[in-house]
Amino acid sequence: MKKQIAVLPGDGIGKEVTKGAVDVLQAIGDRFGHQFEFAYGHIGGVAYEVTGSPLPDETVELCKQSDAVLLGAVGGPKYDTLPVHLRPERGLLKIRKELDLYANLRPTTFYASLADSSPLRKEIIQDVDMLMVRELTGGLYFGKPSERRTVDEKEAVVDTLFYKREEMLRVIELAFQLADKRGKKVTSVDKANVLESSRMWREVAEEVAKRYPEVKLEHMLVDNAAMQLIKNPKSFDVVVTENLFGDILSDEASVLTGSLGMLPSSSLSENGPYLYEPIHGSAPDIEGKNIANPLAAILSAAMMLRVSFGLEEEAAAVEKAVDEVLNAGLRTKDILSEGKKAVSTSEMVAEVKACILGHETIS
Ligand code: NAD
Ligand code: IPM
Ligand code: MN
Repeated sequence: MKKQIAVLPGDGIGKEVTKGAVDVLQAIGDRFGHQFEFAYGHIGGVAYEVTGSPLPDETVELCKQSDAVLLGAVGGPKYDTLPVHLRPERGLLKIRKELDLYANLRPTTFYASLADSSPLRKEIIQDVDMLMVRELTGGLYFGKPSERRTVDEKEAVVDTLFYKREEMLRVIELAFQLADKRGKKVTSVDKANVLESSRMWREVAEEVAKRYPEVKLEHMLVDNAAMQLIKNPKSFDVVVTENLFGDILSDEASVLTGSLGMLPSSSLSENGPYLYEPIHGSAPDIEGKNIANPLAAILSAAMMLRVSFGLEEEAAAVEKAVDEVLNAGLRTKDILSEGKKAVSTSEMVAEVKACILGHETIS
């Protein structure tokens, strides 16, 4: 199979983990006889520095012409004082909008070998298998107006939470389709006791549920959901929620796996191309130290193989390799626990590649 993959490393550890994911994809190509062509583009702070824009048109074009997009992360303290339209995060929001990536799938998988890396007790996190479906192109992130104002001579600000019913419908419909193939339960998370948008979200969820008689629908208020995620995570199967709630809850869910550096994601549109990225950010505190966990990016590449290219065996080979290195006790700093072996980002990548290619490992 021949595929073009647009690679947008972005900023900070985005560059380091994306390199790892590309190396792993290359190893898969070698082992299974596929030709993956990697076409690089700029996004985020680095794009601003090189082109003056956090998302130049060339990058959008490159993504649209590619079969899938692999993204690292954007942002960093040195860009925090830029005018809002030049901020790295704007580049990320814009590529999501340009590609109409309305659904962001963030799976949380329990790794038995990482049970000691989570601050939560093993009996709480054991066998957690949850899929968060986050609406990605609407809500507070995109509502207009969003600005600073002077009202009655006092400084004030406005951010607008705007959703069309059809934007809710498509992402909730997808959540039900996915739940129908998994644990047959959808937890729709909202703040319907306060927000009008949430009350419509609930109506839409009820409407969609009628088409999936085998899937159980549960509504949950977001504050309670934040608590239940930690207290009783096994009760969740598919969680569907609006953009900002999904952002916050998925970082929280990553604690169940042991680290933010373990959570991959896929962002889907109606017609593709889809985009794959770890859920974490550019991690300025550990940038350039070769200690970032590359597994979220590598597992995002596995999602690409499965979802965009239909390469199930290849995706499973990546996931198996990740399992093997973890079972062998290799750990980047974020998941290090007693008795385990500390490895760098590049060593972890080399180990995953070695497992895929059946080579001797370096440890
Ligand atoms: P962050 O996700 O970058 O980091 C949060 C914490 O998790 C840090 O302590 C970091 O060291 C750690 N961490 C994250 N990924 C890790 C990994 N792979 N391995 C080991 N440790 C990891 O969030 P933040 O610090 O709040 O934000 C930093 C910058 O990243 C900001 O500019 C923010 O806007 C941006 N950001 C970008 C994305 C994205 O591009 N998708 C996501 C989140 C944050
Ligand atoms: C994420 C990030 C982004 C978001 C930011 C950087 C715009 O936190 O991908 O989770 O909030 O969507
Ligand atoms: Mn986030």
